[in-house]
This record gives sequence, C-alpha cells and structure tokens, in this order.
Amino acid sequence: MAARSIFVTWPMEADVRAILERVGTVHTSTTEHELALSDLIRHVADVEAIIPMGAHPIPEPVIAAAPRLRIVAVAAVGYNIVDVAAATCRGVLVTNTPGVLTDTTADMGALMLGVARRVPESDRFVRAGKWTGVYWSQLMGADVHGATLGVIGLGRIGQAIARRAQGFGMRVLYHKRTPDPEAARRVGAEYRSKTDLLRESDFVVLSIPLTSETRHLIGAAELALMKPTAFLVNVARGPVVDEAALVEALRTKRIAGAGLDVFEEEPKLHPGLLGFENLALTPHIGSASGATRRRMATRAAENCVAALEGHRPPDLVNPDAWRAK
Ligand code: NAP
Ligand code: GLV
Repeated sequence: MAARSIFVTWPMEADVRAILERVGTVHTSTTEHELALSDLIRHVADVEAIIPMGAHPIPEPVIAAAPRLRIVAVAAVGYNIVDVAAATCRGVLVTNTPGVLTDTTADMGALMLGVARRVPESDRFVRAGKWTGVYWSQLMGADVHGATLGVIGLGRIGQAIARRAQGFGMRVLYHKRTPDPEAARRVGAEYRSKTDLLRESDFVVLSIPLTSETRHLIGAAELALMKPTAFLVNVARGPVVDEAALVEALRTKRIAGAGLDVFEEEPKLHPGLLGFENLALTPHIGSASGATRRRMATRAAENCVAALEGHRPPDLVNPDAWRAK
C-alpha cells in the first residue's frame, strides 16, 4: 500500500506538521496564495487528506481528481469553501475548527468601534498631514456605549460579541432561526425577528455561516429597514451581504457606515466601496492572531490524524459520509 499522503495548502508551521508526520507524508504548498485549480488538482492526485486554509476553495473537480481522498480538514470554522455534497457523495469526511477562533473573531467586532469613531478615516487624515489643530466638531463620531447592538447569528462568535457588548453597556438584541433563551440569558440578549432587529439596532453585526439560506440575507430591503444612523458590521462571510445594495445604501445615506472584514468576491472589492470614508475595511483577518492560527492548524491536523487512523474526527460536519463507511 502506498504511504499516506497529506496536502496542506500553505507552508504549515513545523510543529503542527510534525503532528501529521506521525501518520503520513506531508506535502505543503510553497506559497500562502490560493493555488490555481489546475495546480491544486495536480497536487492532490495521490493524497488521502487535504488541509485547506479557510479561504481556499475545494470544489467538486478537486475531490474528483483525488481518488484516494478520505478527508478534507478545513483550517477554519466556516467550511463553505468545500463542496460538501460532492465530498459526502464520495464518502470523503469534511471537518472544521469550531471554538478555537471564537474569541479572536469576536474581538474583530471592534470594527464597530472603528467605524463609529471613524478610526480608519482619522488615521488617513493624520497621515495626509491634514491635521492643523484640535477643533470642536472635527471627526465627530457616534457613541458605541449605551447603543443597541443587534447580533444576527447568536452562535459561538455571536455570543462572544454579545458578552463584549455588555462591557460597553450596550443593549443587545439577537436573531437566529431557533431562538436560544438559555444562551440569550447568559449573554444578556433579547430575541427579535430579523425585521425588528434591523429596525431597532444602532449596530447590526453578522455572525452567521454562509449557506444557500444566508446568501444575500442583507440586501436592499433589509438595509432599508435600518436606521439612517445605524452601522452594519460583517465578520461572517462576504456573500451574506449584497455588496451592490450596500454601496447603494451608503450612496443614498440609508445607513451611517459599515465595518467589513469579509467581501463577496475576495480579494476583489466592489469598486463602489472604495468611494466612502465611513467604512472600516479589513482583509478577512477575523481569526488572524498568531496563537489562534496555530490552534486552528493544530485542530485541523488532529481531525486529519483521527480520520486517517480510522476514527471519527471530532469536528465532522458531514456525518452521512461517516455513516456510509
Ligand atoms: P455557530 O456557532 O455555528 O453559529 C452560527 C449562528 O448562526 C447560530 O446561532 C445559527 O443559529 C445562526 N444561523 C445559521 N443560519 C441562520 C439563518 N439562516 N438565519 C439566522 N441565523 C442563522 O458558528 P460560529 O462559530 O459562531 O461562526 C459563525 C461564522 O462566522 C462561520 O460560519 C464563519 O463563516 C464566520 N467566521 C468568520 C471569520 C472571519 O475571519 N471573519 C472567522 C471565524 C468565523 P440557528 O441555526 O438557530 O439559525
Ligand atoms: C474564518 O473565516 C473561519 O471561518 O474560520
């Protein structure tokens, strides 16, 4: 039997790689850049496991090109990059890394502070040498403390954002498909329908997965419900927001601004977005702290090892593939 072979889509940390080397031979990409589909297909032809970074797509042709593939161990909690249906059909396990990045991503809810207090705009202003004195009305922003926060998706990250909001004395509303009174009590949040949450909130933060149901969950109709003084913050996935509708809402001052860590067609930005000062933009760095990235890589490696040793991996997202074994 050929030795087990594992392909990692980035030059993985040596100590995490050592976890994988206990069960197989590890090949890593030499670059952190997304590989072209043809290169990825070439790399996976003979592998039993793929460990992709959270933004590296694993579409059906990649799964089809890897006849020995047993697991795709995504190094992220969001696994929308994988064609899970194609993987399940082939009996390929798919795993993610829930929990280990919750607090780091919730910290990124600070985009709320960034946009409300005009931090990126102020930074540009100072660097451009435009600062000539301290003026009464200069770069006045909105208060975060005491404001109403609406969290859409009160899962791990949403709850962690709600806990942080309590420290700012915010009133917290939440929406999810199945209300969770126990979690809501713990984090001091009140349930609202999506419509009521959008109408009542000063800040709307998105912390939901990208699914067929959540694609463009926030479009023109939803933006029209928001207060003109309210801000939208997206730390979930870009396609949850209809970016063209957001650009239009900013152009017509339907909302006061937005904080975006994720975009519809990363790394491309809707060209309209670049025209606004009232945005805080970051390049999908929600989980990007050194310690958290290491935990994510380790968790992905552990899932991979479990699967290759014939055990059910702890973070399996397609149990049907396991049942079919
Ligand atoms: P989670 O614990 O599974 O929470 C997801 C929440 O979304 C749940 O409360 C779920 O509740 C809700 N939800 C799902 N579908 C919904 C819908 N159609 N309408 C309303 N609510 C819905 O996941 P998590 O760990 O908090 O992560 C959430 C997402 O954040 C990930 O999937 C990922 O895409 C994103 N993320 C981004 C970054 C970044 O770098 N920016 C980092 C980490 C994670 P119900 O099922 O009851 O609806
Ligand atoms: C990052 O975006 C993740 O989903 O973990």
